[in-house]
Amino acid sequence: MKTILIASSVLAAAIVCAITGCRMFSKRSTEATVALSAKPKGRIAIVYFSQSKVQNTALVAKWIQKHAGGDLVPLEPQTPYPEPYGKTLKAANEERAAGVHPPLKAVPPLDGYDIVFIGSPIWYSTYAAPLATFFDGEKLSGKTVAPFCTHGGGGAGRFFEDVRKTCREAKVLDGLSIRGSNQIERRLDIGVAAHHTEDDVVEWLNRIFK
Ligand SMILES: Cc1cc2nc3c(=O)[nH]c(=O)nc-3n(C[C@H](O)[C@H](O)[C@H](O)COP(=O)(O)O)c2cc1C
Repeated sequence: MKTILIASSVLAAAIVCAITGCRMFSKRSTEATVALSAKPKGRIAIVYFSQSKVQNTALVAKWIQKHAGGDLVPLEPQTPYPEPYGKTLKAANEERAAGVHPPLKAVPPLDGYDIVFIGSPIWYSTYAAPLATFFDGEKLSGKTVAPFCTHGGGGAGRFFEDVRKTCREAKVLDGLSIRGSNQIERRLDIGVAAHHTEDDVVEWLNRIFK
């Protein structure tokens, strides 16, 4: 019995290790080692939605703010999505099937901003439904839009293409796709910080604002 228990613990650790590349055990630093080459010119807003308890997209938004500056604008549905993951999926899937754009708590006007970062977790290969609600009320005409997303291993899907289609009246820059959490990682509180460092954000900022 004891042998079986030890063997299953080793197997579980090996699975987690394989998923995360063992980085969760090393407690490595996520601080940037590269410098920002030039601050983006203009007033910056970082609009994002982040749903899971790991808060992957929120962390990337904070890394962007740390290096580029700007104001964080979190999007909050009036009715929060349920946890755990199975319930979130069910709610999001029902919403998607019905074409619902969920009502949000008030979003401040973005008139005075020149550059708007837009961040979302990938839901069903594109942006999450609260972003659809945001876009209903905000066309971002004449602004520079920098999209970023976090995903569970499936990549950005149609996200960048969909942001481009939706923000036709904006100048949309190349986006940043960041690995967040898959289903197992969510349960273990493993996300962006296990897969990336701030360098990925700074290098992206250096590419798009050179
Ligand atoms: C409803 C739902 C749909 C999802 N669809 C995808 C997907 O299509 N592709 C993918 O790689 N990850 C998908 N994920 C995983 C999330 O994109 C990933 O966990 C993300 O990092 C969560 O970000 P957050 O912590 O900011 O909420 C989905 C998650 C949920 C809840």
